[in-house]
Amino acid sequence: MRTFFRLQLAALALIGVGSATGCIDSLEPDVGPLIRESCFDEDSNPDVAVSYSEQIVPLLFETPTAGCLECHAPNAPTPEGYLISGLDVSSYNALRSGGNIAGTSVIIPGQPCESILLQKTAAGPPFGGRMTLNRRPVLSDEQTQLLHDWIVEGAQNN
Ligand code: HEC
Repeated sequence: MRTFFRLQLAALALIGVGSATGCIDSLEPDVGPLIRESCFDEDSNPDVAVSYSEQIVPLLFETPTAGCLECHAPNAPTPEGYLISGLDVSSYNALRSGGNIAGTSVIIPGQPCESILLQKTAAGPPFGGRMTLNRRPVLSDEQTQLLHDWIVEGAQNN
């Protein structure tokens, strides 16, 4: 009865029931495809450079858009992102120095798909929650592409 119940749960694609029965080893996550499977380290617009100061800073800072700064700075209004993860997005150097779990893999120049910053904003983050933790809508495709291209181009302080 117990095993039967477990198999039924698995059939409904709920999570984490495989270990006891030993016969179910690949349940798909119900959060959407992992970015690693659909991401390519290629610049979508190689002729135009993304500007950190003009395009990335507004994305990270301004509350009508992503507003990462609202949680990710020592003096943020709600600093839980900084306090828990150590990630401070308030300056270029702070951002590049990374977070407690990802370290400097938060941004790996040239490799946006491997960069935890992008993975954390996508469905299926590698740990913890998907940013922006329901504070605001998840990043739009255009915002994700901007971050992606900026990192592919070397994540420069330009
Ligand atoms: C509502 C507050 C909040 C907002 C807004 C927010 N974060 Fe977070 N962030 C957190 C918290 C809390 C954690 C730690 C828990 C976790 O990893 O889910 C975290 C963790 C992270 C980490 C992991 C760092 C590490 O190495 O541990 C990254 C990267 C990150 N956030 C990026 C972002 C980005 C990019 C944005 C904006 C698109 C953003 N966050 C917006 C609260 C926030």
